[in-house]
Amino acid sequence: RKRVRVHHLTEAKAAGEKLTMLTAYDGPTARIFDAAGVDMLLVGDSVGDNMLGHANTIPVTVDEMIVAARSVTRAARRALVLVDLPFGSYEASPAQAHATAVRLLKEGGAHAVKIEGGTRVAPHLRLMVESGIPVFGHLGFTPQSENTLGGHRVQGRGDDAAARLLEDALALEEAGACAVVLEMVPGPVAERVSAALTVPTIGIGAGTACDGQVLVWTDMAGMGPWSPRFARRFAEIGAALESAASDYVTAVRSTEFPAPEHTFET
Ligand code: KIV
Ligand code: NA
Repeated sequence: RKRVRVHHLTEAKAAGEKLTMLTAYDGPTARIFDAAGVDMLLVGDSVGDNMLGHANTIPVTVDEMIVAARSVTRAARRALVLVDLPFGSYEASPAQAHATAVRLLKEGGAHAVKIEGGTRVAPHLRLMVESGIPVFGHLGFTPQSENTLGGHRVQGRGDDAAARLLEDALALEEAGACAVVLEMVPGPVAERVSAALTVPTIGIGAGTACDGQVLVWTDMAGMGPWSPRFARRFAEIGAALESAASDYVTAVRSTEFPAPEHTFET
């Protein structure tokens, strides 16, 4: 199967084909999701709260993103791998964003990067794109700004906020974004933004009208005890793992494992 590339995204939108994205933070999950046919793997800064034990994405460093990115890019054969610019690594200037993105590509093997924010980061996005780096935008609820946004809240509610969201999306497309993630946006607002853009929208908690969907894999697979309202648990992997580990403990304690077939002869 041929590698998914940035030009396929707009082609898929034009053809009315839905795009699929999941987060991945390591090699084993990247290999599995790639084999399942997921189009894009996002090395999200959600690695902070999902893997590294942080309360949110704020503490995640560029070095941590690079370790995760390298694991995912080495394992993915077909999927396009995009990597988040973490908090504090791009906001100060287009040059700072460019320098961080270069590290994510050169050291992490990223095919593309993702940046949070609208009109404010359009110059940053433009410089990266002009330097040959594909960039995804991210609008609506942007977790790196949760302290400003007042927690996990739906964004773009009401006419003014919806109009601002559309303006931001158009600014990102104009600056050269290859797609725009819409997080926690009312369905009808996401539909309007999706219709206005030529590049695809990738929704998370943004309804069915988006051109593609993304979920955090632990939410999708039921790895943790709960998933957000906008996610469906397509499996109960956490419970299955706990049951496997508990069976292992029982088998070792009862000396039922290891059995002769697991034991080397002299
Ligand atoms: O880091 C992440 O997982 C994300 C998705 C929620 C879009 O940015
Ligand atoms: Na993110």
